[in-house]
Amino acid sequence: MKNVYTPIEAKILEVIDETPTIKTFVVEPREEIKFKAGQFMEMTVPGLGEAPFTPSSSPSQKGKIDFTVMKVGRVTEALHEMTEGQTVGLRGPFGTEYPLDKWKGKEILIVGGGVGGAPLRALFLALTERINDFKKILYCYGARTPADIVYKDQIQKEWPAIDPRQIETRLTVDEGDARWKGNVGVVTTVVENIGLDVKTSIGVVCGPPIMMKFATFKLVDLGFPDEAIYLSMEKNMSCGIGKCGHCMLGQYMVCKDGPVLTYDLIKDKPALWD
Ligand SMILES: Cc1cc2nc3c(=O)[nH]c(=O)nc-3n(C[C@H](O)[C@H](O)[C@H](O)COP(=O)(O)OP(=O)(O)OC[C@H]3O[C@@H](n4cnc5c(N)ncnc54)[C@H](O)[C@@H]3O)c2cc1C
Ligand code: FES
Repeated sequence: MKNVYTPIEAKILEVIDETPTIKTFVVEPREEIKFKAGQFMEMTVPGLGEAPFTPSSSPSQKGKIDFTVMKVGRVTEALHEMTEGQTVGLRGPFGTEYPLDKWKGKEILIVGGGVGGAPLRALFLALTERINDFKKILYCYGARTPADIVYKDQIQKEWPAIDPRQIETRLTVDEGDARWKGNVGVVTTVVENIGLDVKTSIGVVCGPPIMMKFATFKLVDLGFPDEAIYLSMEKNMSCGIGKCGHCMLGQYMVCKDGPVLTYDLIKDKPALWD
């Protein structure tokens, strides 16, 4: 059996600058790694250590996997210095996925912010590959400024064009600039008049903790049942496989029982939004 602590080498094929602090790394693992949208992997930056990231490419993409990473500290700063041809390590995939089969026939509202767009892109692409299984997908994304929008052209142009009848995207920024003609306001300001049957729809939220808190409250206010709200939780992790206890949220281990958890399971947990 394969040792879960041994990383698989993956060569960096391409580095894409998304925003001043976020880059997408397209990597080619030496061995095939299959994952489902929502699951995460531990990425090793040689000589420095590892950190958990969720792939941002479609799980069906063959031979390469994208990771979209924000520079926040030691490991991510070192990763941002890496270039094409260099090698990282990957362990995983770990944790829970978005249950697409369970969502068949439903309308899906996705609400994201900042680098939370990473797992949501993997989810969005997986959904669109079987678009006829779902009634509608509404993707709402917010960033601090226009320069901070991750996957801007994809959200504005490419994604709605996949199927304009069933896919709608909405963008907003906290602060506009001279060229920004879109909505200004936090992401919840575009989660209005959504035109979905909230009692039977699925809501998905991922982003910085404060955004997740208010987006979740918004979905609850709109009438989404708690068990239909899916959150991608980020807690400090170490082993990634349910052994060390670093990632506890109440009785749940986010690395094993999550990162995808429904709101009904965790809404009463202390430090939910920390
Ligand atoms: C399941 C899971 C999936 C994740 N997926 C992604 C992903 O796809 N893309 C991505 O960019 N990140 C993702 N993260 C977050 C990522 O793992 C951390 O940003 C990373 O571990 C930070 O490591 P570091 O050594 O660079 O920072 P550290 O040196 O550990 O931290 C430096 C400083 O940054 C702060 N910090 C740490 N994490 C964050 C954060 N997420 N946001 C803001 N400040 C932070 C710390 O509190 C500390 O003050 C994910 C986390 C989890 C648990
Ligand atoms: S990271 Fe070790 S138990 Fe979750």
